[in-house]
Amino acid sequence: MSPRGQFVRLAERPGAEIHFTIDGTPATARAGDTVLTAILLNRPSLGASDFTPHDRAGFCLMGACQACWVHDAEGRRRRGCSTLIEPDMALFTKWMPPHG
Ligand code: FES
Repeated sequence: MSPRGQFVRLAERPGAEIHFTIDGTPATARAGDTVLTAILLNRPSLGASDFTPHDRAGFCLMGACQACWVHDAEGRRRRGCSTLIEPDMALFTKWMPPHG
């Protein structure tokens, strides 16, 4: 876990280690973590907001505010606070269609 994460896990809990990537950077989390938790344990934010000059890092943590959207490798939007992290997920803070 990177010491630069926004979140700090205060207590270890059981659960398999999950490997995933965020914007192509390898990261780890625990089974049962939400996508938002998994990302913010490894990074300080979800990247730039579309609505303010500030970076976003979720807000409500309960599916109401829309501040935690990320994209999967197929370009589908995933709500970070209500989606569980899965092994080998490739997540992106901004969707950029593949060149081709
Ligand atoms: S943090 Fe508000 S909807 Fe996810």
